[in-house]
Amino acid sequence: MHTTEPRPMSARRSDALSGRARVPGDKSISHRALMFGGLAAGETRITGLLEGEDVLRTGEAMKAMGATIEKRGDEWIATGTGNGALLEPEAPLDFGNAGTGVRLTMGLVGSYDMTTRFIGDASLSKRPMGRVLDPLKEMGLQVLSAEPGDRLPITLRGPKHAAPISYRVPMPSAQVKSAVLLAALNTPGVTTVIEPVATRDHTEKMLAGFGAALEVETDAEGARHIRIEGQPKLIGQTIAVPADPSSAAFPLVAALIVPGSDVVIESMLMNPTRTGLVTTLMEMGADIEILERRNEGGEDVADLRVRGSELKGVTVPEDRAPSMIDEYPVLAVAASFAEGDTLMQGLEELRVKESDRLSAVAEGLKANGVDCEEGEASLRVTGRPGGKGLGGGTVKTHLDHRIAMSFLVMGLATEKPVTIDDQTMIATSFPDFTALMTRLGAMLD
Ligand code: S3P
Repeated sequence: MHTTEPRPMSARRSDALSGRARVPGDKSISHRALMFGGLAAGETRITGLLEGEDVLRTGEAMKAMGATIEKRGDEWIATGTGNGALLEPEAPLDFGNAGTGVRLTMGLVGSYDMTTRFIGDASLSKRPMGRVLDPLKEMGLQVLSAEPGDRLPITLRGPKHAAPISYRVPMPSAQVKSAVLLAALNTPGVTTVIEPVATRDHTEKMLAGFGAALEVETDAEGARHIRIEGQPKLIGQTIAVPADPSSAAFPLVAALIVPGSDVVIESMLMNPTRTGLVTTLMEMGADIEILERRNEGGEDVADLRVRGSELKGVTVPEDRAPSMIDEYPVLAVAASFAEGDTLMQGLEELRVKESDRLSAVAEGLKANGVDCEEGEASLRVTGRPGGKGLGGGTVKTHLDHRIAMSFLVMGLATEKPVTIDDQTMIATSFPDFTALMTRLGAMLD
């Protein structure tokens, strides 16, 4: 964990990867499954939950507010408090590294007449929380204390009676959208969230499944208007969490860049708000076959057959960013092996992730001999097919799991090994990463 000593790890040039891989459950859906299950009346049964540190923190927070959450066999069972009936937690809620956990929970408690204190690790304590506090303040929330720049630790006090609002989300953020929708659950009347650019829609889909009255309309400019009726009765559900496309991205890119590879990724979530990376890689010439598209538990999933490919650089359309926002680090790795330049734009949100991902990626690439140019909100990567002359550097991961995994993937195809300064944060989202990659043939040590 983040409090322990850093543990470096290296990746070496590997022979062709092969086999089938089922990556863990989707992180976004897993957080929401525990939150909504912990809130809804009766039992919610969850299979395929991501048992990563981030998600388990959300489970602990819900327990601290009155829910019962336990694992029985392969299933997680949440027994909720009933909507509107969360209890004031006795101790601070510690969200570790988890931005989604803390921001969504701020929304959830933001309309309760109670005091809640939020803490997190060094990475989470650097991230801006004003983006969720601003709309919640309009609903009546008081910020009792916060570090400069609206950073953790933060203590919140909700109003006696929250006020419904109409809120236009100023940046493309599913976390901000979700925080307002969750605050609406304990607010009388109709709350409206307007998002000019569509972001992942798991909150809307899942809340509707739990029984909330929610309408979504797209206007002439393409903005989504989400209206939710306050104080719904939420009832426990059965949820099968599909495999996380943001985790699948690592074996997927690894199979593309290691020549001769042939890997099948099973049951990956194909929700269009999450598949921007697959679209982009296909435009780069990636050999990805989408097999067995099907619907499982309300979400589209598919198996993906991925083979080693000669990639070409592309310009990634800016408006695709929300559907692949967590995948830019590993796309930059794929681009390092492509013929020509890959240009990624509209990346301002990368600066406020678990690390400043734009500069962490650019520094990591440079440390390993990749030609790249970091702009204010853009990145240009000049690839070197075959990875000739690349590698040999050590990458600073800045407590960021996706930086760690991206550069380990890179080292599987560079001439010289790539080392990362710390692998411990990988457990926040993909605890089984090393074992799964090793089974496919990756040389990690
Ligand atoms: C998430 C939303 C995204 C994403 C994060 C998960 C979610 O964050 O980067 O990993 O589950 O709602 P933003 O809302 O900051 O874009």
